[in-house]
Amino acid sequence: MSNSLSRAVTSSQAGPHPRLPEIVLRHLNAEHLKPAARHTKDAFAHMLHWIGDRKNPLIMDACCGVGDSSRNLADAFPDHLVIGVDKSAHRLERGAGHNGHENLFLLRADLNDLYPLLVTSGLIFDRHYILYPNPWPKPGHLGRRWHGAPVFRDLIKLGGRFEVRSNWRIYLAEFQIVLDIAGTEASINRIFPDPPLTPFEAKYHASGQDLWQLVCESHPASRK
Ligand SMILES: C[S@@+](CC[C@H](N)C(=O)[O-])C[C@H]1O[C@@H](n2cnc3c(N)ncnc32)[C@H](O)[C@@H]1O
Repeated sequence: MSNSLSRAVTSSQAGPHPRLPEIVLRHLNAEHLKPAARHTKDAFAHMLHWIGDRKNPLIMDACCGVGDSSRNLADAFPDHLVIGVDKSAHRLERGAGHNGHENLFLLRADLNDLYPLLVTSGLIFDRHYILYPNPWPKPGHLGRRWHGAPVFRDLIKLGGRFEVRSNWRIYLAEFQIVLDIAGTEASINRIFPDPPLTPFEAKYHASGQDLWQLVCESHPASRK
């Protein structure tokens, strides 16, 4: 990532997307049908092998990019096993070589495929982070935001404390609405990270942008 300053998110949406409740209800009531890609299944098997018979609590760092946040979490929670996931081999490779953490596993996978595999496996997470997901600010891209995607119904079943950070407050306001529909209360707070947890956070912060955090202390549909 370059060191240049970044512009705040712009969108023709002045507030939460009006079709969001209708879309999420459809997703919550749908069956998951899409089979996972081979490479994600293989990566998932590799991850299960790495966990082995260890019983440490788990942390999911979804969309971890180059993995800086995963390493920070591995340092902050030495008794936990941290799993950082990103679909970009390029980003993960850029962070490779900085590992050296016995409690950290970086995994290349598409989370649209991985979340359902995790739910089926019955693994429960103690903490789950999605830090600075792509905002997809065009209204027509609502279905690409995590809370507007079919996989939302799996994503909320991981359990534990759930946190999403963004520089676009509307993204979190939408997440809050969708979590409420799924039966869970979440709060949104402005944050002043010091030090920043991720490279995107550092860049947005250095650009003077407001940063926000959605937190849900106990995950919604935890293990129905
Ligand atoms: C804006 S970057 C944020 C990276 C990092 N969390 C940070 O704050 O520096 C969003 C990341 O989400 C990843 N991503 C997007 N869609 C994904 C998917 N379906 N599965 C896994 N990772 C995905 C991208 O590859 C990218 O690294």
